[in-house]
Amino acid sequence: MRGCSPLSSPWTAYLCLLSVLCLLFTPAVMVKENDFKKCHQSGFCKRNRAYADHAVAQGASWQPPYAITSDKVAFKDGQFQANILKTTDDQGAVVNLPVTVSFLKSGAARVTVDEERRQMKDIQLRHESGARRERYNEAEKWAVVGGLALDKDAKVAHESKTGMTIKYGPDLSFEAEIKYEPFAVDFKRDGTSHIKLNDRGLFNMEHWRPKTEKAEPEKKEGEEGDKQEEPKEVPAHLDESTWWDESFGGNTDTKPRGPESVALDISFQGYEHVYGIPEHAGPLSLKETRGGEGNYNEPYRLYNADVFEYILDSPMTLYGAIPFMQAQRKDSTVGVFWLNGAETWIDIVKAKESKNPLALGLSTKTNTHTHWISESGLLDVFVFLGPTPQEISKTYGELTGTTAMPAEFALGYHQCRWNYVSDDDVKEVDRKMDKFKIPYDVIWLDIEYTDEKKYFTWDPNMFKDPISMGKQLDEHGRKLVAIIDPHIKNTGSYPVIDELKSKGLAVKNNKGSYFDGWCWPGSSMWIDAFNPTAIKWWTSLFKYDSFKGTMENTYIWNDMNEPSVFNGPEVTMPKDNLHHDDWEHRDLHNINGMTFHNATFEALLSRKKGELRRPFVLTRSFYAGSQRLGAMWTGDNQASWEHLGAAVPMILAQGIAGFPFAGADVGGFFGNPELELQSRWYQAGAFYPFFRGHAHIDARRREPYMAAEPYRSIITSALRLRYSLMPSWYTAFFHANQDGSPIIRPMYWTHPGEESGFAVDDQFFVGSTGLLVKPVVEKEKVAADVYIPDDQVYYDYFTYNKLNTHKGKMVTVDAPLESIPILMRGGHIFPRRDTPRRSTQLMKYDDYTLVVVLGKDLAAKGELYVDDGDSFDYQKGQYIHRTFEFHQLLLTSSPASTHEGKALREGDWMKRFHDVSFDKIIIVGAPSSWEGKTEVEVKSEGQTHKVPLQFTKAEGGRAAFATVGRLGARVGADWEIDFA
Ligand SMILES: *[C@@H]1O[C@H](CO)[C@@H](O)[C@H](O)[C@H]1NC(C)=O
Repeated sequence: MRGCSPLSSPWTAYLCLLSVLCLLFTPAVMVKENDFKKCHQSGFCKRNRAYADHAVAQGASWQPPYAITSDKVAFKDGQFQANILKTTDDQGAVVNLPVTVSFLKSGAARVTVDEERRQMKDIQLRHESGARRERYNEAEKWAVVGGLALDKDAKVAHESKTGMTIKYGPDLSFEAEIKYEPFAVDFKRDGTSHIKLNDRGLFNMEHWRPKTEKAEPEKKEGEEGDKQEEPKEVPAHLDESTWWDESFGGNTDTKPRGPESVALDISFQGYEHVYGIPEHAGPLSLKETRGGEGNYNEPYRLYNADVFEYILDSPMTLYGAIPFMQAQRKDSTVGVFWLNGAETWIDIVKAKESKNPLALGLSTKTNTHTHWISESGLLDVFVFLGPTPQEISKTYGELTGTTAMPAEFALGYHQCRWNYVSDDDVKEVDRKMDKFKIPYDVIWLDIEYTDEKKYFTWDPNMFKDPISMGKQLDEHGRKLVAIIDPHIKNTGSYPVIDELKSKGLAVKNNKGSYFDGWCWPGSSMWIDAFNPTAIKWWTSLFKYDSFKGTMENTYIWNDMNEPSVFNGPEVTMPKDNLHHDDWEHRDLHNINGMTFHNATFEALLSRKKGELRRPFVLTRSFYAGSQRLGAMWTGDNQASWEHLGAAVPMILAQGIAGFPFAGADVGGFFGNPELELQSRWYQAGAFYPFFRGHAHIDARRREPYMAAEPYRSIITSALRLRYSLMPSWYTAFFHANQDGSPIIRPMYWTHPGEESGFAVDDQFFVGSTGLLVKPVVEKEKVAADVYIPDDQVYYDYFTYNKLNTHKGKMVTVDAPLESIPILMRGGHIFPRRDTPRRSTQLMKYDDYTLVVVLGKDLAAKGELYVDDGDSFDYQKGQYIHRTFEFHQLLLTSSPASTHEGKALREGDWMKRFHDVSFDKIIIVGAPSSWEGKTEVEVKSEGQTHKVPLQFTKAEGGRAAFATVGRLGARVGADWEIDFA
C-alpha cells in the first residue's frame, strides 16, 4: 500500500501541511518526479560524474591520483594488503587509504578500501553533531552472513615493483592482476580479462579535510560587489558548494564530516548485458545512462524512497536497493556486489572495442563500463567470476543468505485491500470466497484496522472481536496479515510511544533528541531497528498477550520502512539523523528497511515459548540480505496495462539479485482495472512468486467473486492453476533456499549460451519445471509470441499441442482471454495436485499427479520437495525430496538428497504424510508404439502390481499422450514403472 490520495483521511492533514509548505517554498506546482533528486542535485553524484567527464576529456593524459606505495605491500593467507596514497592539491595533506584484497574460498574476491585518518577518528566534526567519525563499516554486519572464509591456497604468481598477480579460485583458474600506479585490478579467468576495477581511472575517495571559512560575506553586502568580482568558474568536480551542507526541496542536510563519497569504475570486458541492481521500473537488461537514443540521461539510483505513482522505464530510485549486478556474454556470467548502505548512483555505458582496427566491425566486442558512486562508507566490492549464472547466484547466496524456506501458505493467494473495514467485513469476504469456490490463503488488514494508526491496537468500533475473525479464518487453514509500520504515533496515553521514548530506542535528529516526523498517524517517531535493544523490545510487543487480538495465524506486513516520512527530504529521514552507535542516517539509509523487517521477523519467531513456526513478513523496503526475512512487493503500482507489463521484468530482476520472493499488486494499487485487465493480471499473478491482489482505499471493491462472468471464471481458473502447481512452486522455493537460484528465471539465466535471449524479459521459466510462461500484458491481445531459447521440443500446457519451434525464434501461440500462454519444455517432470481446494492447508495430504514431458531423446527429469510447510522440522530431516527420471522407458522415483530418510524418528507430519501417494501420471509426447498398451507394471516396496494405462494418439497438432491411473505409489517410497 501507499501513496497520497486527496480523498483519503490520513492525507488531509498532510496535504494541508504540504500546501502551506508549498506556498512558502515553491513557486509552481511540482511534478512528482521532481520531488526526487537527479544526479546533478545530489552534490556527490554531480562531483563524481563531473570527475568522470574530466578524466575522459583528458584521454590518455589522465593521471589518476591514487597509487599503491610498494613499501607496505603484503600478501598472506589469501589476503593482499597495501596502502593507497592519494595525491591531493592540499598543501601537505597526506591521504592514506588502506586497501585489502581478500580471496575467498567461495571463489569470490573482495576489495575493501578505508581511509586511515577517519579510521583513527582523527577528524573534526562540524557542528555539535554527535556523529561517529569513521566511515560506516557495518554494512557487512547486516548484509553478510557467510562465505567470508579466506582461500589460503591463493598464491602470488608474479610480483614486481609495479604490481602483483595472485592466482585463486577453482584450480587456480582465476587471477587478480593488481596494478600499483595508478591503483587498478584486472580480474581474469582462464587468462582472459573479465572485470576491471579502475580501468578508466574514476576511482575516487573524498578524503577528510577541515572546513576552511571563506571570506565571502563581504561580497554579499551590495549588488555592485557581486558584479565587480566575477567568481572564477570552478570545474564541477572541484565544486565545494555542497561539501558542508546541501539543500533540496526546502530541507538542508548538514554534513558534520564533510564530503566523503566513494566511487569506482567497473568494466565488464566483452559483456554487452548487465542485470540486477533493483529496484527500478525498467527493462531487465539495464540501459545506458549517459544519453543517446533510447538511453537514460540519469544514472540508476539506489536510495530507498516512497515514490508515489512511480513512472515506468526509468532509472529513478524506488523502495528497495540491492547493489548486486550480473554481466552476461555468451557462455559467461560474472558479477559484482557493491556493499554500501548509503545513497548510490550507477552510470552505465557500453562501448564497442575493435580488436583489430583493420577488421572493420567484424571482430568488435562490446565492453560495459559501469561507474558506482556512493555518498559515504567504505569502498567494499565483491567480484564474482562465474562462469555460470548458477554459480554467481550460489556464491552471492553464501554471502548474503538465501530465501528463507517460506511457510507454505505464503505461496497461496493473498487477498488484500486498503481496507477491509471491520471484522465482519473480513468474515464476509472469507465466506464469499468459499461460496464461489475461489481458493485463497490469506486476507490482509491495512492501516485502518488500528485505533487511530496506533500499531498494536484495534479500532474499537470496527474490530470488536478480532479473535473470532482469526478463528473463522483458521477453520479453512487461512491466515490474517496485519500491517505494522515503523513510525510510532507520538501521542499521549499510548504505551508503545511511552516505552519507545523511555527506553531510548527511537531514531534521533542531528541535535541528539528524538526525531519527530509526519506519517500516517501524524506526528511520529521511528523505532531504530539498528539497535539490538530495540529489536528485543519490538519482539516483546508481538507476544500474544501483548498484541491482543492476534493468534497463531496472524502474520505481519511491514510497509513504509524506507522509511517514509511525509515531511522529510525526498519523503524520508534527514540524512544527518542519528542511529544506534551514532551512525548517521546517510550511512545506512538503504539498510534501514531491512533492519526493521529483521526486527519483525525476530518478533514472529518468538511470540510464544516453544512455538516454532516460520514467520511470514512482507516488506516494501529491502537491501541485500532481505531474502532471509520474507517477501517483497513492487509497491504502489497502477491499474494500467503498462504497469502489468512492467511487473515481470521487475520481479525477474529481484530473482537474479537474490531476493526472488517477489510480486506486484495484482489488479494494480491505484485506479480501477477494467475486467479484461484484471483477468490478465490474475493470470500473470498466478506466476509471481508472491501472489497478492491489492487495491487503494479509493478503488472500487474487486475481490475475484465481484467480477461478472466470464471474468470470474477466468480469474478462478488462474487461481486454481496456481494451487494445482503448488508442489512445483514449493520445490522451486526449496531450490532458492538451497542455492540462491531465482524462482522465476529469465532466459539468460537458464540459457547463458543463447545470445538472442539475453534481452528477453517478458517471459520466464518456473523453477526447473520446464514451464515457460509468457503473460499477456496487452489489451485485446489473443495471441502471444514466445521466444524459444533452444531446440528442445515444446508443448502447449493445456492442449498438449506440439509447437513448431526453432531455436532463437518466436513461436506464436493462441492466447484468448481464458488462456495463459504456458509451454512445457521437453525433458522435464513436474508435480501437481489436481483436486481444487480452498486453501493450501486443505491440500496438505492430497495425492499428487506427475506430468512427464518427454524430451527429444524420450527422456525427462524432475523433482519434488515436500515438508510440513510450517515448522523448522525440515532442518532435522523431516522432509521428502525425490528425483524422478524417465530413461529408456523406465520411470523411477528415488531419493534426491543423501540426507533424506535420515530423520532420527518420524515426526507428526511424516506420519500423517506416510500414505500420501502419486495417483496419476501423465506422459506428454508418448511414443506411438504405446498404442494398444493398456497397462503397466509398478514396482514399489517389494511389490509389483499392474495399473491401467490409457494412450491417446497424436491428432492434428496435438501430441500423443498417456495417462497412468490409480498408481498408489507412495511419495515417500522408491518406485519404478516399466513402459517397455
Ligand atoms: C536480525 O538481526 C540480528 C541482529 O543483528 C541478527 O542477530 C539476526 O541474525 C538477524 N536475523 C536474520 C534472520 O538475519
